Amino acid sequence: MQHLVDIDDLDISKIEKILEDAKSFKKKMPPKLLSDKLIITLFFEPSTRTRSSFEVAAKRLGASVVHLDPAKSSTKKGETLEDTFANLAAMGPDGVIVRHSKDETAKILADMDLVPVINAGTGKSAHPTQALLDLFTIKEHFGDIEGKKITIVGDIANSRVASSGIKLFQKMGLDITLVAPKEFMPKTTLKNTPSLEEGIKEADIIMSLRAQLERHAKPIFEDYSEYAKHYCIKKRHLRDNLLIMHPGPVMRNIDISDEVLESKNSLVLEQVRNGVFIRMAILKYILLDSR
Ligand code: NCD
Repeated sequence: MQHLVDIDDLDISKIEKILEDAKSFKKKMPPKLLSDKLIITLFFEPSTRTRSSFEVAAKRLGASVVHLDPAKSSTKKGETLEDTFANLAAMGPDGVIVRHSKDETAKILADMDLVPVINAGTGKSAHPTQALLDLFTIKEHFGDIEGKKITIVGDIANSRVASSGIKLFQKMGLDITLVAPKEFMPKTTLKNTPSLEEGIKEADIIMSLRAQLERHAKPIFEDYSEYAKHYCIKKRHLRDNLLIMHPGPVMRNIDISDEVLESKNSLVLEQVRNGVFIRMAILKYILLDSR
């Protein structure tokens, strides 16, 4: 049974197939390939983009979608996560899409091997569909991505977008630089600097990330306007052909200034648009191709 827990579940040929399918879906909506499929979304953490993007993707392919709201489910009455999941699996869905605050949740559920599991973001460690849509967006822009320079800026240590992104970008030959204050810098062997100016000098792409406040045990910075003085992407950082990306939600004028967010360099809404096509391709891969 094929699951998507993290980027390691995909070799380069599978990644390329997913990118290719997404590209063709963007060019022309495909027929309802998943019209006999039922998908359950199980989101234990808030989500604006990812959940609706998966639902739109599933519906574009003709699948039915049932959403379980854990706040109203029996996990609140003491049922274990595994039991809740086993009960959902017993209803015969073709896939379950999971988001959870703990790093290991998607892996634990996938290892039960009851139904294909797709990780829609777990803890600090994995968000593979975001990484794939980011890669798709970069590739769509540049064509050949080998050696392209991406600088990731922000709360990298606590970001699952960065964790999966770094794995995928390394696998696909991008050149990665990390920019963050020491509090937000993970242990890394990658090029890294606390200086935004230094870290973006040669960049083709800047990926900005918000402070993951909900994952900080105690406040790391008292004053994010002070942080923004050093790390907010502003107009003076822009050059022609420098792409600005962000997975959302954007903390305006802390992560990226209004002006930059609304500039032609910004691909932030294109990322959201592409998210639907990538998730369509991922659903096709998990629910059809690997059956
Ligand atoms: C991210 C997430 O929830 O992991 N957003 C997203 O999925 N587009 C990043 C975030 O919350 O900052």
